[in-house]
Amino acid sequence: MSGNSESLENLSTENRSFPPSSAFATQANASADLYAHADKDRLAFWDEQASALNWHKKWDKTLQWDSPFAQWFVGGQINASVNAVDRHVAEGNGDRIAFHFEGEPGDTRTISYAQLLADVSKAANALTEIGINSEDRVAIYMPLIPEAIVAMLACARIGAIHSVVFGGFSADALLSRIQDADATLVITADGGFRKGAAFALKPLVDEALKGETNVANVLVVKRTGQETAWNEGRDIWWHDLVNRQNPTHTPEFFDSEHPLFILYTSGTTAKPKGIFHTIGGYLTQAAYTHKVVFDIKAETDIYWCTADVGWITGHTYMVYGPLINGCTQVIYEGTPDTPHKGRVFEVIEKYGVTILYTAPTLIRTWMKWGDEFPNKFNLTTLRLLGSVGEPINPEAWMWYREVIGGNNCPIVDTWWQTETGAIMISPLPGVTATKPGSAMRPLPGISAKVVDDRGVEVGNGHGGFLILDQPWPSMLRGIWGETERYKETYWSRFPGIYFAGDGAKLDDDGAIWLMGRVDDVMNISGHRISTTEVESALVSYEAIAEAAVVGAADELTGQAIVAFVILRGGTAHADGDALVKELRNHVAKEIGAIAKPRQIMVVNELPKTRSGKIMRRLLKDVAENRAVGDATTLADPNVMKLISEGLKSSKDED
Ligand code: WT7
Repeated sequence: MSGNSESLENLSTENRSFPPSSAFATQANASADLYAHADKDRLAFWDEQASALNWHKKWDKTLQWDSPFAQWFVGGQINASVNAVDRHVAEGNGDRIAFHFEGEPGDTRTISYAQLLADVSKAANALTEIGINSEDRVAIYMPLIPEAIVAMLACARIGAIHSVVFGGFSADALLSRIQDADATLVITADGGFRKGAAFALKPLVDEALKGETNVANVLVVKRTGQETAWNEGRDIWWHDLVNRQNPTHTPEFFDSEHPLFILYTSGTTAKPKGIFHTIGGYLTQAAYTHKVVFDIKAETDIYWCTADVGWITGHTYMVYGPLINGCTQVIYEGTPDTPHKGRVFEVIEKYGVTILYTAPTLIRTWMKWGDEFPNKFNLTTLRLLGSVGEPINPEAWMWYREVIGGNNCPIVDTWWQTETGAIMISPLPGVTATKPGSAMRPLPGISAKVVDDRGVEVGNGHGGFLILDQPWPSMLRGIWGETERYKETYWSRFPGIYFAGDGAKLDDDGAIWLMGRVDDVMNISGHRISTTEVESALVSYEAIAEAAVVGAADELTGQAIVAFVILRGGTAHADGDALVKELRNHVAKEIGAIAKPRQIMVVNELPKTRSGKIMRRLLKDVAENRAVGDATTLADPNVMKLISEGLKSSKDED
């Protein structure tokens, strides 16, 4: 969206509504009175939720709120790994399957809670042996294999703060994250499997570590068996160190407010923000939301969240939430079209998946591939479907319901962010009558509102900005090392109130419709990338003098990156197609393949106001093939005409 109020107000009416079936409602974990119960005494409600965890020492105070700094369950002591693993074994459920792992090449592993406890304990002993403790940050750069989860839990077990860096990010992106968090250990793999082939990860770690860091060791899981360069004294094979460890480990307990992890996310500047979360509050909301939103029945459900551990969804709804709730999960390493476009459906049939949590971009991709792929497999075990990452359009919602859910599954469209740590706005299955495309209303215990630009609540039928006006347990505790930026980014637009960066609208019934970002952040397949980040990658290429980037509507990925670049003098006659190709690869090298622009247009000028600010709104019109809007504030009113006429463009082919 362009961020002007017109587009916020402009939402076609959706009249369809799907009430829960009585069969689902009767057995649901959530009940309608939860809202009133939470409203009556919000802190008492969160106390109750926190009591579902195992605490070594109970907290003295539920919330200490020195706006914008929160402490939850103050004085409590807890261990995240004990809550995720040990307690299930202690309660006699050690034989329950924690993970059905499906590798892309078809290799499988079945890991029980008892096995997971032994694996995590060995890994914790291994980390301790190489000197890692609760003062350390550990970067985890891995494919989606069980060791990635074991590594996270082993860090949590000894109080070391994990910083998972998505395996699709470049060596440069990895280095800047290692440096920002001052990590002392990197856990990685030789590589992983994707799109039918082995890709390498370790060489990217080697490349990154040519930079200045305090990394003393690199722990390497052998996943693909490919030839791997070795740095003696620094590099250690996971199997050499971990396998020989004692499978028992006595956990220590940490302050409720001890950081659990850092996860980097894009903001409006080129430098990613190290969002950090602390143990007690994060785990409380992760477990509660996972239980009520996904209606988890630990004994019978087979739950599958298709996210990667490199994103917040993987942290909260693949690692911490489901494990605390003692769930059986499916995890899948590869891409959904390998070796065929029915792979996800085949895996659902194979394991009898009952709950599926995925992203609108994948749902739209399935729609495009055609119904024959899901129709070939038995999906009748599914009983609930979830969506996350971006607004889901009503057509995709309906297709998800009919073709994947057989008209038989409630859909939960869950709104949240890396910063919120856990789901904030979502239907409650069995309670809420859902509308296709709406995330409906804040969960019990959460307060979210839609306000105008002065911070005043808009009424039903109106649009504005989504804000959170009450602290919540899994809220970010800050940006790592950047307190001022934390205050400025989230708490200054509306003083004392958290501004999420999203536009939203309330329909006539008060249901919330998310309208996309209102800042310079793009949402590509549910992943946040800032325009500035891509622009600075582009201008770091020597032939480029200036660059402007916009997110343009894209049928499959929600938004796609479109760049406008001005060449430096002297390079103007270079081969345009070759240059565009090199530029796209350059961005992939700087940030990662997900940030490759779909389209790069070489232009002579960029549209700027008299004060020099680039008018991205106009570029977006061009990128989305629309008539260019009001350009009267441009310093040179002719620029847009030149851009529209003289486009030299190149389409993404891969
Ligand atoms: C941004 C947060 C939360 C995990 C995945 C993304 C957008 C997220 C929805 C939804 C509409 C959504 C928002 C938000 N978003 N879920 N259900 N409906 N928009 O995490 O990378 O931190 O991105 O994703 O714009 O601000 P993230």
